[in-house]
Amino acid sequence: MRILTVFGTRPEAIKMAPIIRAARAAKLEMQVCVTAQHRDMLDQMLRVFDIAPARDLNLMQENQTPLQFAARVFESLPPVLHKIRPDWLLVQGDTTTAFSAAFVAFQEKIRVGHVEAGLRTGDKHHPFPEEMNRRLISSLADLNFAPTPRAAANLRAEGISDSRILVTGNTVVDALNHILSAPVSYSDPRLEKLSGKILLVTAHRRENFGAPLEQICAAIRTLAQKFPELSVVLPVHPNPSVRAAVTAQLANRPRILLTDPLSYPEFVHLMKRAALILSDSGGVQEESPTVHTPVLVMRDVTERPEAIESGWAQLVGTSKDEIVSNASAWLSGQKAAPPANTLNPFGDGHAAEKILRALSVSN
Ligand code: UD1
Ligand code: UDP
Repeated sequence: MRILTVFGTRPEAIKMAPIIRAARAAKLEMQVCVTAQHRDMLDQMLRVFDIAPARDLNLMQENQTPLQFAARVFESLPPVLHKIRPDWLLVQGDTTTAFSAAFVAFQEKIRVGHVEAGLRTGDKHHPFPEEMNRRLISSLADLNFAPTPRAAANLRAEGISDSRILVTGNTVVDALNHILSAPVSYSDPRLEKLSGKILLVTAHRRENFGAPLEQICAAIRTLAQKFPELSVVLPVHPNPSVRAAVTAQLANRPRILLTDPLSYPEFVHLMKRAALILSDSGGVQEESPTVHTPVLVMRDVTERPEAIESGWAQLVGTSKDEIVSNASAWLSGQKAAPPANTLNPFGDGHAAEKILRALSVSN
């Protein structure tokens, strides 16, 4: 059985890495092709997980639109598939890379396995364009690896037969366990020296560009003023729309540290050290029940309701006042985190092996 995995962004690399590692351990033939949708953040993760792609399409361009990027994948990926002729093409999540690669594989009559299938908000504009990407991948995929029973139920409700669905857990738990088992060294000494409470922040969603991102930045300024013992750390996403807004509103302010994107070990260990996380990220919501740090989700809807039900995540939207009042409640101890021994809704850390076993059985 020959498996080809195609990915291109930071979260895909993190969540595909455990599958590549497990395939190596089981001596399965798995090749990696990267689109490099995220040239810099992808390379950062390839180094962390020691992954050497067989093919690198190198397709990122400054300030690309999803459509422009998809067009480049449609053009560049078919020759790779003609050459490798995999039995399975594996994609992860809901990015433009994942959707376009799945669509190309379908056109080339290659079976598609979808890792992290079945997440839904039910609103095709939130998150945009990811909700449509993942719905389209589900209808193309031959095997859907659902991280949770609820994700599997979402797929069944769309008419996908049980024989094409397997609940595996999310591979992000596998990745986290691997990274947490080793000590970390920080590239920026200021991260080592942080004292007091840490508020860790990430923001990058397209639907938050403009006014919502301005509200988020205003909330961070207010929180830094209100809590004198607080250090805010914000690794800035390299998307130019994010970088410009965040730098304009938060650079050179006391106790607000803007950094480049952090390596996964640095970020994970900071999540663990943080008193609170503010984020609009998908992956960070899934990580909070493993690192045992609460996250306020700066979105109107989430496709990860399991994180909310676990008690580790709270949906707060993007208005400055809502963010400040909810963050203040957590930081001042009015809200308490759930007990650390609650069941992790995103799996037991063995998703990768389950996915590989299912591919072998179906081959
Ligand atoms: C993409 C995904 C989103 C995912 C996010 C994770 C789509 C439609 N969006 O959004 O689902 O949550 O990644 O971070 O697939 N850039 C760099 N270096 C990098 C990465 C990005 O310079 O390493 C800049 C480039 O100018 C690039 C821009 O950011 O054109 C946007 O990158 P892109 O992958 O298209 O969109 P994201 O907003 O990162
Ligand atoms: N992450 C990281 N370094 C950072 C910020 C985030 O390694 O500076 C990790 C984070 O732990 C999570 C993933 O990147 O696993 C989330 O990526 P992102 O928020 O870009 O994408 P999303 O999950 O929203 O698609």
